[in-house]
Amino acid sequence: NTKKLGLIIGSLRKDSINRMVAEYIVSQLPENIEVEEIEIAQLPLYNQDYDKQTIESYDQVRQKIKEVDTVLIVTPEHNRTLPAALKNVIDIASRPHGDSAWSGKKVAVVTASPGTYGGRECGLDVRKSMQALSAKVMIAPEVYLSHASDSIEDGKVSNEKTQQYLTKFADALVQFIEE
Ligand code: FNR
Repeated sequence: NTKKLGLIIGSLRKDSINRMVAEYIVSQLPENIEVEEIEIAQLPLYNQDYDKQTIESYDQVRQKIKEVDTVLIVTPEHNRTLPAALKNVIDIASRPHGDSAWSGKKVAVVTASPGTYGGRECGLDVRKSMQALSAKVMIAPEVYLSHASDSIEDGKVSNEKTQQYLTKFADALVQFIEE
């Protein structure tokens, strides 16, 4: 039966490596998994005062996260932690207090970077937040893809070893979604 996967890309830029990595992972998923991107670029910066009013874009993103079975976050690391836009959507969907969209939600995290460490500290920080929010975090395999730009050609993941590595992750993700 059909499962819904919400995809959050932590990078806002057009030629994002993380978007390419996400596209490769998505290309490896079976047809019964419906993928929908959860857009984060236009969300106003979270302000707790807004909990008392209606912000349409907040309601939409909270609703989308509640609707999907699993959220896949594919993100770069900014200054050794989460990019601000990713932190923003995590905060928005965690509120109002008592109505968090993350509670009990299945969440998988992938980071990719052109650098040596693959965005690992960001990946660990996302997991930390998700754990605090009582999300069900996919434990393994952990993917912090280093030297990611070396695996890309013409906007696609082309390196065979990287493809195999990401396919292994995609297979585990399917198991996690179906669990
Ligand atoms: C970076 N980058 C980066 N990379 C990394 O591995 N660790 C880090 O802490 C940082 N910090 C950082 C801060 C800021 C503000 C920027 C703009 C960039 C480099 C980053 O990994 C690189 O730009 C990636 O290409 C970003 O991912 P996307 O946008 O290609 O998906």
